Amino acid sequence: MSNNTPYDAMFSSIIGKEYDMLQLICPAATEMSRLVGIAVNAYVGTSEPLQVVELGGGTGITTLAMLSGKNNLHILSVDNEPTMQDQAKVHLKQWVDEGQLSFCGDDALTALQNLANNSVDIIASAYTLHNFLNSYREDVLKEIFRALKPNGQFINGDRYALNDSRQHTRLIQEEIGRYFNVLTPMQRNDLLEQWIVHLFNDESEDHVMRESVAFQQMQSIGFMRINVSDRIAGNALVTAVKP
Ligand SMILES: C[S@@+](CC[C@H](N)C(=O)[O-])C[C@H]1O[C@@H](n2cnc3c(N)ncnc32)[C@H](O)[C@@H]1O
Repeated sequence: MSNNTPYDAMFSSIIGKEYDMLQLICPAATEMSRLVGIAVNAYVGTSEPLQVVELGGGTGITTLAMLSGKNNLHILSVDNEPTMQDQAKVHLKQWVDEGQLSFCGDDALTALQNLANNSVDIIASAYTLHNFLNSYREDVLKEIFRALKPNGQFINGDRYALNDSRQHTRLIQEEIGRYFNVLTPMQRNDLLEQWIVHLFNDESEDHVMRESVAFQQMQSIGFMRINVSDRIAGNALVTAVKP
């Protein structure tokens, strides 16, 4: 992280180049993408195609989960890390060619600021907002609210820390154990080191996204029907609606 970038760009490192390893050390991350895909496709809207903005599209796992459902969607997939987004451009070329998908290389806040008021049906994300500094995340949530149409939905499958911090610490300890169990036999100490460094970042006071705090934040911005529909350890699918 530098003073010029108010968020951590660790996905430019080996983590980004070998992002599929996350599936092995943290299967819940991939499951969150699947759940986001289901939630997006359960949305009943009036526009055709539904206008969807994805924050932190990464290598395209969540994007694919959304595109594989029944809803007719146009997705603008935002990610400011070319190491990640370039992989998505290759994996998802078919949908780009069919006009259902386009990409934006701005950071999430800048991309949202460029959207008109009340213009988007769904803003969806998986495993991205927890990477943001708290202050940046709050600005992002305000912009999400502004850009959504009335009745538009925010859908986020992400790391939401448990409100009970001692219980949460136990989950993190178990998570670190899994990193070692998977990566040590593979002799991938390089990845092990990077994911542990990344985890320290996620869990730091100025990043951690605690469920109760996140809900209060969304409530005070104006979101309604804030809901956790699935929770897997320290991960949750959260949905909220703009009235
Ligand atoms: C853990 S990956 C998740 C990717 C995908 N949604 C998935 O679940 O596999 C997080 C992604 O968010 C992107 N990201 C992090 N901070 C960002 C920001 N401020 N603006 C846009 N993208 C960001 C990273 O580059 C990375 O590709």
